[in-house]
Amino acid sequence: MIEIENVTKVLSGRKILDGMSLSVGAGETLVILGRSGIGKSVTLRHIVGLMQPDSGRVTVLDNDLAKLDGRALLQHRRKIGYLFQDGALLNWMNLSQNVALPLIEHEKLPKSEIMERVEEALSLVELENHMDKLPSEISGGMRKRAGLARALINRPQIVLYDEPTSGLDPISSSLINRLINDLKERMGIAQVVVTHDMASAFAIADRIALLHNGRLRAVGTPEEIQSTRDRAVQQFIHGKIDGPLSHDQRHHLADGETTVVGGDESPPSPAPSTPNPTDSPALSPDPKAGAISNRAESRLSGEAEKGKNQ
Ligand SMILES: Nc1ncnc2c1ncn2[C@@H]1O[C@H](COP(=O)(O)OP(=O)(O)OP(=O)(O)O)[C@@H](O)[C@H]1O
Ligand SMILES: [Mg+2]
Repeated sequence: MIEIENVTKVLSGRKILDGMSLSVGAGETLVILGRSGIGKSVTLRHIVGLMQPDSGRVTVLDNDLAKLDGRALLQHRRKIGYLFQDGALLNWMNLSQNVALPLIEHEKLPKSEIMERVEEALSLVELENHMDKLPSEISGGMRKRAGLARALINRPQIVLYDEPTSGLDPISSSLINRLINDLKERMGIAQVVVTHDMASAFAIADRIALLHNGRLRAVGTPEEIQSTRDRAVQQFIHGKIDGPLSHDQRHHLADGETTVVGGDESPPSPAPSTPNPTDSPALSPDPKAGAISNRAESRLSGEAEKGKNQ
């Protein structure tokens, strides 16, 4: 579903991505870890087509993104749910209107169906009782969950999450983790999750990757990541101050290769193999078994008026 091949990206004179490669298959959740400023959000922006690589290739749902024109790129983005790091809600619109935005922008659906889907999406993140509120009237964690509802409203085939649990209490975090697992298992969605929340990472990941020095420093199943002796991985997952990630050390990997960590490499030498998405646990996607329920109530127009008056 997602293939990033040997991508390089320079921003503000700094090589942020430097031969980055990753792949994610249908029904797979890949978690990306890495230090602040290392390029995690930049990676997600390449997948959604908001950024183009300087070199290398990004293929999503069998489309080489470099070959899509403006209109095709917009269509591409409709197939991807993107939870922005900051939620990115519009302050002058209430939650219903914010969540409905992708539908109103892209699809000519009847208002009643839009409202039905808005309520479904807000119910998923347990915000159905706050539909009329403005973003300024709810907590940071609630804004995050509303951003997630908006990312899911188009029933996307791929969902990208930029720190979905940051700022959430443990119970809300568990709700999000469960939702991510449900979407994968019931709808076969491919998901990429950027997080600093280790409990969440281990609760949702099929594979975990560590981004460092412009490429995936290591990638493996949660068990492999947990048990590897790779000092960089151990430093990150245990939050140790001292270690390879504290210095700008380059770990020399062969071009385009990704290290698959196992139980006993220390530190991993050039990778024995590149992970194949089909190696991940086989899930049986059932597109009909939507995680979204069917409750409906036509409230959009009333709320739109209310939002305008505030
Ligand atoms: N549009 C841009 N123009 C110039 N530099 C950028 C742009 N976007 C990101 N950068 C730079 O690229 C680097 C990586 O940014 P990115 O947002 O991907 O970090 P991150 O790994 O997501 O960090 P965090 O965990 O803090 O969110 C940073 O140094 C950032 O300043
Ligand atoms: Mg970021």
